[in-house]
Amino acid sequence: MAYDLIVIGSGPGGYVCAVKAAQLGLKVAVVEKRATYGGTCLNIGCIPSKALLHASEVFAHTAHGIEELGVEVSAPTLNLDKMMAHKDATVKSNTDGVAFLFKKNKIDGFQGTGRVVSTGKVAVKADDGSEQVLETKNIVIATGSDVAGIPGVQVEIDEQVIISSTGGIALKKVPETLIVVGGGVIGLELGSVWQRLGAKVTVVEYLDTILGGMDGEVSKQFQRMLAKQGFDFKLGAKVTGVEKSGAGAKVTFEPVKGGEAQTLDAEVVLIATGRKPFTAGLGLEEAGVVLDNRGRVEIDGHFKTNVDGIYAIGDVVRGPMLAHKAEDEGVALAEILAGQAGHVNYDVIPGVVYTQPEVASVGKTEEELKAAGIAYKVGKFPFTANGRARAMLQTDGFVKILADKETDRVLGGHIVGFGAGEMIHEIAVLMEFGGSSEDLGRTCHAHPTMSEAVKEAALATFFKPIHM
Ligand code: NAI
Repeated sequence: MAYDLIVIGSGPGGYVCAVKAAQLGLKVAVVEKRATYGGTCLNIGCIPSKALLHASEVFAHTAHGIEELGVEVSAPTLNLDKMMAHKDATVKSNTDGVAFLFKKNKIDGFQGTGRVVSTGKVAVKADDGSEQVLETKNIVIATGSDVAGIPGVQVEIDEQVIISSTGGIALKKVPETLIVVGGGVIGLELGSVWQRLGAKVTVVEYLDTILGGMDGEVSKQFQRMLAKQGFDFKLGAKVTGVEKSGAGAKVTFEPVKGGEAQTLDAEVVLIATGRKPFTAGLGLEEAGVVLDNRGRVEIDGHFKTNVDGIYAIGDVVRGPMLAHKAEDEGVALAEILAGQAGHVNYDVIPGVVYTQPEVASVGKTEEELKAAGIAYKVGKFPFTANGRARAMLQTDGFVKILADKETDRVLGGHIVGFGAGEMIHEIAVLMEFGGSSEDLGRTCHAHPTMSEAVKEAALATFFKPIHM
């Protein structure tokens, strides 16, 4: 039987595309090489890391954050095995959930490595070496990404001493010292997990700032907060070597501006210097599919490659490597294949760093607006002036809103604070509808909530906040 659609890869891009296409009446199959569905995100990325981030935060909060609330307990003890079991159970319930969705939507799942044979044909090679060829009208490449390593540096990741994010969610004991190479999202999230559980964490970052690409004011203040928690930062430092040394590992780095190289030792070194699109062994070259100069599958505005009937979405194509971006592309592509008008608004894709406090952002940063020569106005409001934040002792951070100087249309929103990853969405919805800071500032917000700080920042953007 020929399918309407075969999706290779069952991560957030692939499985969402499959479900949406099936909901729209297409006959769909998914090819997945892992034993469980859900890709990197559900198996070894977003979901397990959030389970550990939550559990480690409860541990750290119990140890340091509740005495002032009048809750006195003896120092908590860590049961790392149990914490890991919670992580594993969280992963299982999510991957089982995808299997359930496939069943419910009558999607055929094939376990094995998928390869494009030609337009309309996908080979699936099972673990036992047997191969079958499936026929389909359309093929979607949703194979995601893989650890990139350090550009130009040979590093042997053993996932015990020198680890990637995969090892970073599965350590058997809390290391005394952890060096994180790369001060991006993975480094700061996983660095936070182990720092909260007792590791001394040093982040070595090439740029002069952590979370490069985020609003400069946000990353600067956030870095101070992490430093207060005990993080050590070596910024403007280019890592040129990572190798095993004794029972641990040694990291060599030199100032980007020039100067003497230094070395640091640690029990464990986490390599978090980015991810690269996963296209190896997919038969893309043989099928004539063009990749761009960064190894990503080249697509047009409708996710179509240069070869008819072959499409691609998610980390394997241009744009931010984010699960929700991949999901939205999956939905839009399913709609297009079903004859509808699918669309993704790349100007309104939120980004969240799930640390404590969280960092959340949508739209343009101040630096981007400056570079584009767009006249803008800024409104800010700190959580220290928010009643609910005070009641919860969660006053770290602020909300910042950027709006067009002429039209007042909101162009960007940035939040550092407890629950920022939830609060960012009201700014995203507002932006999706082309709203202004006045629209946001005049929208009634429940009292007392952290979200009132978003309203106050909007008031500050077009006139003045009330509570400052
Ligand atoms: P990243 O691109 O966010 O950060 C990598 C950092 O490594 C950069 O700041 C870069 O300047 C630095 N770096 C590169 N070479 C270096 C060197 N030789 N020496 C020192 N520093 C060096 O990559 P990351 O954190 O590995 O994440 C990969 C992808 O996964 C990203 O696209 C990210 O958005 C995504 N992700 C998203 C999450 C979220 O949305 N919460 C969570 C985890 C990952």
